[in-house]
Amino acid sequence: MDMLLIHNANEVLTLQSDTKGPRTREAMSHLGVIENASVLVEGDRIVAVGPLAELEERYSEKVKKAKRIDATGKVVMPGLVDCHTHLVHGGTREHELNMRLAGKTYMEIMNAGGGIHYTTTKTREASFEELYEKTSRHLDQFLQYGVTTVEAKSGYGLDWETEKKQLEVAKKLQETHPVDVVSTFMGAHAVPKEYKGNEEAFVDMVIDEMLPKVAELKLAEFNDVFCEKGVFTPEQSRRILEAGKRYGLIPKIHADEIEPYEGAELAAEVEAISAEHLLVASDEGIEKMAAAGTIAVLLPGTAFFLRAPFARGRLMVDRGVPVAISTDFNPGSSPTISLPFIQNLACMNMGMTMEEVLCATTINAAHAINRGDEIGTIEAGKKADLLILNVPNYKQLQYFYGMNHIDTVVKAGEVVVE
Ligand code: NIG
Ligand code: FE
Repeated sequence: MDMLLIHNANEVLTLQSDTKGPRTREAMSHLGVIENASVLVEGDRIVAVGPLAELEERYSEKVKKAKRIDATGKVVMPGLVDCHTHLVHGGTREHELNMRLAGKTYMEIMNAGGGIHYTTTKTREASFEELYEKTSRHLDQFLQYGVTTVEAKSGYGLDWETEKKQLEVAKKLQETHPVDVVSTFMGAHAVPKEYKGNEEAFVDMVIDEMLPKVAELKLAEFNDVFCEKGVFTPEQSRRILEAGKRYGLIPKIHADEIEPYEGAELAAEVEAISAEHLLVASDEGIEKMAAAGTIAVLLPGTAFFLRAPFARGRLMVDRGVPVAISTDFNPGSSPTISLPFIQNLACMNMGMTMEEVLCATTINAAHAINRGDEIGTIEAGKKADLLILNVPNYKQLQYFYGMNHIDTVVKAGEVVVE
């Protein structure tokens, strides 16, 4: 098997900890930094991390055979995990930006037939091949910014044929592209035009027709719903998430994004793995999430781009909610693949520390997609998803903001960006 040695990094952020499961409070600050350290990789797995002399002594044969990458003066950390994206979609929506800058709200544009409806039309029109090519290019861009795993939600079909097409594109990319793609079914992303005034019938259709097929064809692991005033009510959302559970799909929820709607409370109640957005989540909802261990997936790029108030990330961490951070990459509310810039926003606009945002985009994000045992830290046995960053210490990642600090990306033991 191929061996790789990344040697003499200024700092290796292992993110190792005794905490099992998602990290909360002070544990979110423990980056497990080892100075002047090296990482040994065999095949797609991490073998060991530590001082070079130690690795040479314990693994002398393997070290001798290894291809070497000199990381002198640089930082090494786990590949970033983007745990909330609307990855597969047709078209773009730059025409909405001046409308929003002139004062139109996101919901007004959507209710007038734009927004999610516009992207649904474009996604329905696109062929499988067109969607595959477009999404593949987005994944290439993610890699350039150090993202080695992405979650991908459907939800721009809103009919079975197109939802299936989106999920199958994600599945094929999981098989063919270096980036790992983890799928979430989000048939309840909006009520499509053809069901306007007939919302309950659409919810029934998602539950009775789409969910069983998603499960049967094994097209997703998670089930998400846009619980929002004017989209799906908490009651409809509960029905959809509970139904998904009966098919083995783990609940996730777009909660309290635009108006408070007790979405955080609902997430705790249905034992969702995560509640996402939470810009206007209530104190009580935050308490309930902390008690239930529900992961808050915060998406400050969406607050930035919609010019909305930021989620109370600082408070959530202090109250004991495990927090993850993600791009929400989608053509309407957050068209960016730069998870490093999203980290910058989380620091500056949600008051999270330089350490917390790194935890929130690696191991906590991995837990939000049920991959905490496989990725998100640098430790023996885990997948060798590694970044070499062109900075001498990790604090410069948030200090020199809005820049791409990637030097090298290793995905499953292979150098994919250099
Ligand atoms: O997470 N809130 C719902 N869905 C996406 C936006 C989708 C779109 O505008 O196309 C979000 O913000
Ligand atoms: Fe989203």
